[in-house]
Amino acid sequence: MTIRPRFVVLSAAVAASVLAAGITMIGTADAASTLGASAAQSGRYFGAAIAAGKLSNSTYTGILNREFNSVTPENEMKWDATEPSQGSFNYSGGDRILSQGQSMGAKVRGHALLWYQQEPGWAQSMSGTALRNAMMNHVTQVATHYKGKIYAWDVVNEAFADGGSGGRRDSNLQRTGNDWIEAAFKAARAADPNAKLCYNDYNTDGVNAKSTGIYNMVKDFKARGVPIDCVGFQSHLGTSIPGDYQSNLQRFAALGVDVQITELDVAQGGNQANIYATVTRACLAVSRCTGITVWGIRDSDSWRTGENPLLFDNSGNKKAAYTSVLNALNAAGPTNPTTSPTTGPTTGPTTPPAGGGGCTASTSLNSWNGGYVATVRVAAGASAVNGWTVSLTLPSGSALTSVWSATNTGTTGAVSFRNVSYNGQIAAGGYTEFGFQGTGTGPAATPACQVG
Ligand code: XIL
Repeated sequence: MTIRPRFVVLSAAVAASVLAAGITMIGTADAASTLGASAAQSGRYFGAAIAAGKLSNSTYTGILNREFNSVTPENEMKWDATEPSQGSFNYSGGDRILSQGQSMGAKVRGHALLWYQQEPGWAQSMSGTALRNAMMNHVTQVATHYKGKIYAWDVVNEAFADGGSGGRRDSNLQRTGNDWIEAAFKAARAADPNAKLCYNDYNTDGVNAKSTGIYNMVKDFKARGVPIDCVGFQSHLGTSIPGDYQSNLQRFAALGVDVQITELDVAQGGNQANIYATVTRACLAVSRCTGITVWGIRDSDSWRTGENPLLFDNSGNKKAAYTSVLNALNAAGPTNPTTSPTTGPTTGPTTPPAGGGGCTASTSLNSWNGGYVATVRVAAGASAVNGWTVSLTLPSGSALTSVWSATNTGTTGAVSFRNVSYNGQIAAGGYTEFGFQGTGTGPAATPACQVG
């Protein structure tokens, strides 16, 4: 008697998926039923941090195999795990995670080559040149061991200070010299040229002093040719999310790096499902946001004990937050900027010619049905620029929803954008970029640029 109703429910589910498949064939809807498959509709991944010690738990691996198409080792590729004594490497846990990922056909994110926490004891007591050499050897050895198998490495984790300084965090790594981060990225590139190389940090969920410090580092790396491909936003969130979460991702993407949500978890509370959906929609709206990783599977797997911050409850049941993420992924699927056949992914706009002094502006649009992201390049002419304002007219029906790396006046019709503190000065012949997102259709005409 108890089995019969279950059979009926299953039949309904099968019927629903047959129906969905039929709708997909005529191209009007494309709802996938797992996180990984729905993220894949726009070329993105949806991953989880996993622990080797839990892979014998069938509830855990059942969810993992069903839902996710990327994995990150929660601890197994950290320095203390991979080089427990100096020069002696242990890859057993890391290899276990790698083979799990490979068996799923999933991406494997490497986490993390250098971090001031979970350093092995021998490294904690080192300093100076000896430590710098040990750090570089560690990066080279581990990246070489996993060469060709890692989608993206967190080369450096959590190197910036919290609070208002926007500067580096003190650590024995930092005390080996400020160039330790770029040295690590160069060593990682040399060891595994195919892995994307990321900088990863937390408390970077909006435009703030810490995220701006990282932004400036990435900008400097790009300007000087230091290899960096991506920035990871851990996104360990409480009961709210900054309103500029998406525009913060976008300003990094505008520097020419991918962005990834790398360790998402959200305190349980009234807003949990909404915050998860907001993060998901933000990633989907940024063409260079390549995927999302949650930091664990069930609440009972989370490092945030008692906060129930994940998508599955202790028994492995889907929570409301799961449904809101899945719905957000499916809602964006066919109209996503990355896959839009009419626009394609954002490529930077070309530098406009600027004769004499003054400045010029040009816009590249990444549009989808009902919205767009505009990247505006502001170029100096033959003289350096100190302060600029870009003006343009939005088409009727278009309103700005967010602006990054500039301050706007107006949100509809005639609008203007003024430089912010860090991008007002442009060298002669150089350029900077800012961006905005809006509803409706983006501006077609070339914007006007004024110096001063
Ligand atoms: C955490 C793990 O989840 C715990 O199991 C471990 O005891 C401590 O580290 N930022 C990071 C992750 O980059 O590596 C951390 O993971 C969580 C915070």
